Amino acid sequence: MQAIELTINGERLKTTVDPRTTLADFLRDQADARSIHLGCEHGVCGGCTIVINGKIARSCIALAMAMDGSEIWTLEGLRDDPAIAQLRDSFHQCHGLQCGYCTPGMLITARDIIARYGNPAEGILRDALAGNICRCTGYAGIVDAVQHAAVRLQQHTDDASGTNSPKAVSPR
Ligand code: FES
Ligand code: FES
Repeated sequence: MQAIELTINGERLKTTVDPRTTLADFLRDQADARSIHLGCEHGVCGGCTIVINGKIARSCIALAMAMDGSEIWTLEGLRDDPAIAQLRDSFHQCHGLQCGYCTPGMLITARDIIARYGNPAEGILRDALAGNICRCTGYAGIVDAVQHAAVRLQQHTDDASGTNSPKAVSPR
């Protein structure tokens, strides 16, 4: 077993892990991060997307033992994040989900896209979303939802002089 110490959704955790344990399994089992959905388990579908040290990453192809000293956020810890709250609402309004299996990964990726691009053109948005596979929606509703959220967040930014910008959110 390997000793590790890391921060998950703002909580410090000191534990030991089997060196073969994936980060996805570790987070689901030890941090109850059930928003991590395993689809392909080899880095293709995006269902297991989380945030590691401020960058989105696939937790199925990372080893838990390599996360010593890292700061990790899953959708559970981003419940009150303004961009995630808006995206949840926009996915609901724009029919951005059906079965919902891809949705947690989509939300985390969409939050990252909005933080990096603001309100990108549809082509850029579709390219940036290409690493997240959805088997239900045909993507139109998802693209609409992310664009809807981007516009709403921009309006909040304008109304609040930047205090609610996704760029103003901590880089978790
Ligand atoms: Fe990780 Fe598919 S389960 S990318
Ligand atoms: Fe079913 Fe995307 S809503 S996989």
